Amino acid sequence: MTTTTFEDTVNQFVLSKEQVQKIIDGLTEELVEGLSTTDPKNITQQPSFITRLPTGKETGLYLAIDMGGTNLRTAAVHLLGDGQVGVTMEKHEITEKLKTGTGEAMFDWIADCTATLLKSVALDMGNSELQMGVTFSFAIQQTAINRGRVLAMGKGFGLSDVIGRDLKDLLEDGFVRKNLNVKVSAIINDTVGTLVSHAYVSPSTKIGVILATGTNAAYIENTSEVTKYNGPSCDKMILNTEWDAMGKSSYLPQTKYDKEIDAKSHVPKFQEFEKMVSGLYMGELVRLALVDLIEQKAILEFLNGKVPESLQPRLSFKTMFMSTIESDHTPEHTGVDKVFKTTFGVEGLTPEDRSRIFRLIHTIGLRAASMTAAACVALLLKANGATVQLDNPNEITTIGIDGSVFEKYPHFSHNMLEALTEILGQERGSRIRLELARDGGCIGAALVAMVAHSGGAV
Ligand code: GLC
Repeated sequence: MTTTTFEDTVNQFVLSKEQVQKIIDGLTEELVEGLSTTDPKNITQQPSFITRLPTGKETGLYLAIDMGGTNLRTAAVHLLGDGQVGVTMEKHEITEKLKTGTGEAMFDWIADCTATLLKSVALDMGNSELQMGVTFSFAIQQTAINRGRVLAMGKGFGLSDVIGRDLKDLLEDGFVRKNLNVKVSAIINDTVGTLVSHAYVSPSTKIGVILATGTNAAYIENTSEVTKYNGPSCDKMILNTEWDAMGKSSYLPQTKYDKEIDAKSHVPKFQEFEKMVSGLYMGELVRLALVDLIEQKAILEFLNGKVPESLQPRLSFKTMFMSTIESDHTPEHTGVDKVFKTTFGVEGLTPEDRSRIFRLIHTIGLRAASMTAAACVALLLKANGATVQLDNPNEITTIGIDGSVFEKYPHFSHNMLEALTEILGQERGSRIRLELARDGGCIGAALVAMVAHSGGAV
């Protein structure tokens, strides 16, 4: 059992303080650069056209859809006023066929799911036009509160004929084809929805983060800083940072496994930060390292260097297997046996195999938490003195976070807060709250549709 190989492999995923600081400095530079860039390939720091947060007094009935990396959610959202919301929501899995098919097929399907919802809530369409808020978990270059050009999609999506098209037109053309009288009155990124909907229940929320299939964040910026923005004047605006698309090799601590994931992805050299931390890719990092260690007989020596067929396909080691293994605290790490036996048909692991595999997974999970914490620090420092007061002892700053990795990965939120406090120091760190912000997509989309109607958007 070659120990050096194993230690060398695991240590590639351990971040030093200097590496974390380099990530913060690099991301900060890109946050600033994104505010003024005219480079069409730079999709960061997208204006949302939302100039204020909801008051909680909003009322009205809105349709909402939330198109994520894995599921489409449709909802009828009833804003009742004083922060009360009634929601009827349906969830539909987005198949691989849809992800890599035509835009027309995808938007026909979205219209069909919308029609199903209308039937479920027995919402009599009549002739009245229904207003819809849309949360779209992909990069768009927003041109108005309800318009935006679809940019590169990532997350395993390869829709033909939608890049560069206006999302409102794509959706409403689908509704027309399916005889639905629905108009898109607001389009938001999922991080903007998370920020808006969490601020609705937790007014100290200043940042919205997604940690799921992908990762990204939104925050409130002084519009005067956004020199590339030339829309109607306003003091402050929520920005969709698209921090997923940040990350240059000059400051990201990429291992050879990170580089392999990027090279084999749909869009290489795009979303390199996301590919190091998010749910779609974390499990693949583990798989690539496991393949290496098996071939070098550093683990599972009884396989004699031969990787089981079940472990060969790209993305076959899911991030949820990491959660299963990390949630088992028995010293024997029986969770490792469970995953290898039931999912990969591999039995006979030694105690050392199990503890090494546990350590590899724990280290990769910890790196993701530290890198996400570093990205949050970059945002907090960028907003400090404007919408965030890190040195005001009476001010708490809440970061609302949605997504399966934050919600379900064992100790992820604890590890993130620990890393964040380590970087910021005890004093400042004690005034930061990380809160789970569920279902920001649909509620946030409906709130923004309402805010748009009542003049809270430009
Ligand atoms: C991807 C998208 C981004 C979205 C994130 C989380 O990074 O580009 O727009 O917010 O996934 O869903």
